[in-house]
This record gives sequence, C-alpha cells and structure tokens, in this order.
Amino acid sequence: MILRWIPFFACLSLSVLTEALKLQKYLEWNILDFQFPTDNDRVKNIVTGRYRPENALPVGIEIWNDKLFVTVPRWKAGIPSTLNFVPLFSTIKNPPLIPYPNLEANELGNCENGLSTVYRIHVDDCDRLWVLDTGTFGIGNTTQNPCPYALNIFDLQTNTRIHRYQFRTEDTNSRTFIANIAVEVGPTCDDAFAYFSDELGYGLIAYSLKEDTSWRFEHSFFFPDPLKGDFNIDNLNFQWYDEGIFGMSLTPVLENGFRVLHFSPLASNREFSVSTEILRNSSKTEDSYHDFYYSEERGPDTHTTSRLMTREGVQFFNLIDQNAIGCWNYRKPYNTNNIAIVDRNDQELIFPADVKVDRNNYLWVMSDRMPKFLLSTLDYTESNFRVFFAPVETLIKGSVCEIQRPIENNQHAIGLNNIPVPNCKFNRLFCNRQSEYLSLFNEEVFSAG
Ligand SMILES: *[C@@H]1O[C@H](CO)[C@@H](O)[C@H](O)[C@H]1NC(C)=O
Ligand SMILES: *[C@@H]1O[C@H](CO)[C@@H](O)[C@H](O)[C@H]1NC(C)=O
Repeated sequence: MILRWIPFFACLSLSVLTEALKLQKYLEWNILDFQFPTDNDRVKNIVTGRYRPENALPVGIEIWNDKLFVTVPRWKAGIPSTLNFVPLFSTIKNPPLIPYPNLEANELGNCENGLSTVYRIHVDDCDRLWVLDTGTFGIGNTTQNPCPYALNIFDLQTNTRIHRYQFRTEDTNSRTFIANIAVEVGPTCDDAFAYFSDELGYGLIAYSLKEDTSWRFEHSFFFPDPLKGDFNIDNLNFQWYDEGIFGMSLTPVLENGFRVLHFSPLASNREFSVSTEILRNSSKTEDSYHDFYYSEERGPDTHTTSRLMTREGVQFFNLIDQNAIGCWNYRKPYNTNNIAIVDRNDQELIFPADVKVDRNNYLWVMSDRMPKFLLSTLDYTESNFRVFFAPVETLIKGSVCEIQRPIENNQHAIGLNNIPVPNCKFNRLFCNRQSEYLSLFNEEVFSAG
C-alpha cells in the first residue's frame, strides 16, 4: 500500500489532515438484531421471549476475510446466539448478526455441541477460529454454569468445528471468570498454544494443541491493585476492585525462539510480562515466580481490558476511562513517554470493548457502552454499538509507536509469506468501503500502488 498525501490538501488545513488519520466508523447499531431463518421464526422468538434484543450487548470482534465476527454473552435471557458474524462488506451499517457456524451450534446448555457464552475470540494464521465457551448463563451473582469451560476451534474454510477441549477441573476454581485468550502458532499448525486469563480466579492457563492438555499458573501479578478499583466511565462511578489479570498480547517471535506475553489486571495501571518459554513448560507451574516481570505504571486512568500486538510489534490497547485507544512499540521501554493515544472520542468511543488487527494490518475497534448497559439502561433510540477501523500505519504515523526500521522476515512465524498485502487486489469491495470513508477527507489516500 502506498500512502500519498496531496501537498495542496495538507496546506489547506492541518486539522482536517489529522482527522483523516483517525479511526473511521464502519458499522453502527442502536440495538442488535439477529438473522432468523424466516420472518415467522423471528416473530415467534420475540413473542416467546427467546429473543429479547434489548438484552444483547456485543463484547468481542474478530476479522477474517469477508467476515466480521461479533460475540454476545448470555448475561440475560433472550440471546439467540453467542457467536455470530456479519458480512464485512455489508451494504447497510447495522447488519443483523448471523449465528456462526449456525444457530444450532449456539444452543445454550448444550455442552458437547453448543456454545453458551463466548467473549473474546481469535483467528490464527492457519485459518482457525479459537473460541472459549465459558459455559455460563447470567452475570455476577446470577451466574449459572450449565456447562464447563471448553475451548472450541473452528476451521474457517469449512465452517466446521474441528476440536473441542474441556478444561481440567484443576484449571479453574469456584471464582473463575475467563474472557480473554491469546494464541500463538509455531512452525506448523499443530504446534499451537493458547493462553487464558482467569480474571476473578487469578490464574493463567496454558493449553498445548499438540498435547491436547492444559496447566495453570498462579502469581501475585495476576491480582488487582487495591488502589485501582474505582472507575468513572460514561458519567457513572462504579467499583471493579476484584478484577485481576485480563487483557493479553503476544510479541513477535524473539531471537530465543519465543514470544513474550504481556498482561495487565483490569483493576491496575501496570503491565506485566512473561516469556512463552515459561508458559509452554508445564513443569514451570511450580517454580516460576521470578520469571514474571513488571513495568512502570501507565499513568492515571489507564484501565484496560483488551489488547493485541501487531506482527511488527506495536501493541494497541483500549483505555476504557479515556474513551481512547493507546499504543506502545515493544522495542521501547514501557513507560509513559513511550505510550501514545492514537484516537479518542468522548461520544462514539465510550467503552471501546475490543481491539483487533486483521491480516491487512488494519486496526478494528468496537465500542459498546458496557457500563451503562450493566448499571443503567441504554437508550435504544440512539446509536450504542459501533465498529471502527483504520490502517495501523496511518494511526501510528508520527507517534512514539511508529516503526523506525523495517522488520526482517521471521521464518518462525508461519503464514507471514502468504498473507495478502493490503491493496485492492485483495478485495475490491473492501476498497470501495475504504474509499467511502476516506474520500470524506482525501480521495487520493489509497493509490493502487
Ligand atoms: C445480586 O446482587 C445484586 C446487586 O449487588 C443484589 O441486589 C441482589 O440481591 C443479589 N442477588 C442475589 C440472589 O444474591
Ligand atoms: C521445563 O522446566 C523444567 C524445570 O525448570 C526444566 O528442567 C526443563 O528443562 C524445562 N523443559 C524445557 C523443554 O525447556
């Protein structure tokens, strides 16, 4: 991709130019809608209370080819499906959610073949979708556990589930709540590991696909900071003081052949890290206290729930108190000087619940006003849920997160050589949607290169 700014345009107005660098709104819903086989089914589901649109909050997204996945936890009754997608190139901005892979596979309480509640999901380099089913229905003290925690892996090419792994009883405890996953793939697709953060049970669970088994780490770095449990978001004050280890991201493969997992408890302003050399070794669960590291604090009002790192090593994370997205380049020390805000919007980015980067190196963000949904009620006559995107390069350009030198091609990370480059050959429709937004500012932003 070649970015080319017209000098005349730049002279005209610097502020407009800056605007063009920010996240572009792509989808926008007042209330979520789901696709049913027929209109009759839809009406029947509403009448019987099996579908209650006002109870549906989107919490996770992921992008693969022409699908944008959206997860909806079953916190309340009336959620037809927890794992869904919308066509990325939908002609409308509020498309109904389509159950993935189908409605039957989303049956609540069907432990073997259904999904009860899904939060964050991950697409890997082998065209697989990693989905953790918490097996729950309800939220907080109303939570029921009809099913155990189970990992489900789908083949995105065939839309079929290719693996299910039920967590061992030792992996969880009576307080366990897991909403975040991180996945790494080694030289072959079988050589994959997944990591799960237990936010309320304070653990980190590692899973090996090859060995099809899991093990659990415990550490004081997984606990909340007792001074960081107070939140002010969307004009609401509330306390999430027992929320521990939550968002995670993985660096590119380092010279020693391993990545580094970065994580932060939710009630905390601090970043911690551990090498996957430790996490992949099940015998390290007993003796790894000194293998975990901590960094400086990010500064005040920097609670974060979701993060990822690009292949080039730029970490993006949501800043839920600031209605903003932050970045950090892992080649620089983790401190406030090296952390930047790439975008902020006090209307449209209230609770940026999930951040993802697709294979074309576009950052995607979904905002959902979660605190208002949980503690008050959303006004469904106004827009509540939004999806934004922007090319990573333009978001970080000129910031401390900008890549300073080209990255050598890393043979350890499979798939790097066959990832479509971000140009219009990948998908013409995608480029049409891109220009739809970017033409607002500058029709020449994307040239065919
Ligand atoms: C659950 O918590 C809410 C709010 O803290 C409280 O009002 C309610 O009584 C609790 N319900 C149960 C069953 O404990
Ligand atoms: C796993 O950790 C144990 C204990 O520290 C160590 O003896 C062993 O060599 C490690 N295994 C691998 C494959 O690194």
